[in-house]
Amino acid sequence: MVCNTSRNEIMSISEFSNLTPENDLFSKCAAYDTAKKVQAAGLYCFFRPIEETTGGNVVTHGKKRVMIGSNNYLGLTHHPKVIEAAKSAIDRFGTGFTGSRFLNGNSVLHEELEEKLARYLGKEAALVFATGFQSNQGALSVLVGKKDVIFSDQENHASIIEGTRSAAGETIVFRHNDPVDLEKKLKENRERFAGALIVADGVFSMSGDILNLPAFALLAKKYNCRLYVDDAHSLGVLGAQGQGTESHFDLPNSADIVMGTFSKSFASIGGYVAADKDVIHYIKHNARHFMFTAAMPPAAAATVLECLRVVQEEPEHLEALRRNVTKMSTELTRMGYYTLGSQTPILPLLIGDDMMALAFTQKLYENGVFATPVVRPAVPEGCALIRTSYMAAHTDSDLDYVLTVLEKLGKAFGILGNPERQASLDEVSVKHFGKRGAQAVASAASMKLA
Ligand SMILES: Cc1ncc(COP(=O)(O)O)c(C=O)c1O
Repeated sequence: MVCNTSRNEIMSISEFSNLTPENDLFSKCAAYDTAKKVQAAGLYCFFRPIEETTGGNVVTHGKKRVMIGSNNYLGLTHHPKVIEAAKSAIDRFGTGFTGSRFLNGNSVLHEELEEKLARYLGKEAALVFATGFQSNQGALSVLVGKKDVIFSDQENHASIIEGTRSAAGETIVFRHNDPVDLEKKLKENRERFAGALIVADGVFSMSGDILNLPAFALLAKKYNCRLYVDDAHSLGVLGAQGQGTESHFDLPNSADIVMGTFSKSFASIGGYVAADKDVIHYIKHNARHFMFTAAMPPAAAATVLECLRVVQEEPEHLEALRRNVTKMSTELTRMGYYTLGSQTPILPLLIGDDMMALAFTQKLYENGVFATPVVRPAVPEGCALIRTSYMAAHTDSDLDYVLTVLEKLGKAFGILGNPERQASLDEVSVKHFGKRGAQAVASAASMKLA
């Protein structure tokens, strides 16, 4: 009865509703046409539904394609023991923990994972979150108070940017992976604040750049800052057994906190921060992004535990990944692509124009290769990339096929074998990508001479 009355009231009021484009907060939704224009042009390459996957290959729209847009670097999503571990966790715990770890969703799997992860990373303690995104948001928001400051790399991941927005303190952005610019900003600003945190990706997600950790660690010490490194793309990839950026440079504990995710090399979903015990204890009891969200499900936690064993006991996956990356990096540079000096499984191809990057990605797709474009606002105008990434699971024939298609399309789009276009990419490369762009130009030139 009450319900009917209020429904009638709402119906009658809505007749007099005075929503206009100016006062309706939904107006922007109808007006938003960026994606629709790309869809209308037949160049929309997002949200492609995967029907099946074997790791290195996927089936989409009924056709098998080589996947070079994934973060499954070690190919462990299809490792038989990893799959078995996930299945037995479901048998033991069911499909979900249906609550936050803080209250009713904590499990022996999470705790075992934290203990083993901390040991593997060489940290005192670790805390496992439901996602990597929440790990960054949660940790940054509680560590940086009103009187503190974050110095954040210009190309940090969106989850770090959201973390800096959730934090009460100020954020100062420095030029990408540039210790000179960071030091300038530290000199100008450090004294104005109480605590300070320098935050950067260990491997940058779009360009594949590796953080200059030695220089950053030195600056952190010199200016009394704490250093926070996001190892989402370094975990499983850099270092002797894939422990990440610190291990890559043989600089244990040079970062005060390392963060990472399980959604890439560790074949699942979830994230973590690892640091000294007190820091972890503090985040655990204060971060709302940890305390008030449901726990990582059993199959995911068991998957990650098994991956942790695999990366330490089966070096062949990392060896295969490194072989594949060397092959692709060498061949792409030889063809004339600019991969911006990346030495990681992420090999971006500089295309320049946004629409061309979308059209190129679409043509790749039609030719059986699944890659992803990086266009504005993720990169400045004229700097569009195609992000390609490689896995241990790729076979030589997968990679040879990708190279054949890339060579054919590179020529068809005038990116390869076109001196005029090459000159304009040289300019973009040096202007927007600084030192690494110049290195890309130099190494392309030396390949041409050889
Ligand atoms: C550098 C970086 N940090 C954090 C995240 C967020 O991790 P997740 O997707 O596991 O939530 C990502 C994901 O793409 C990333 O690339």
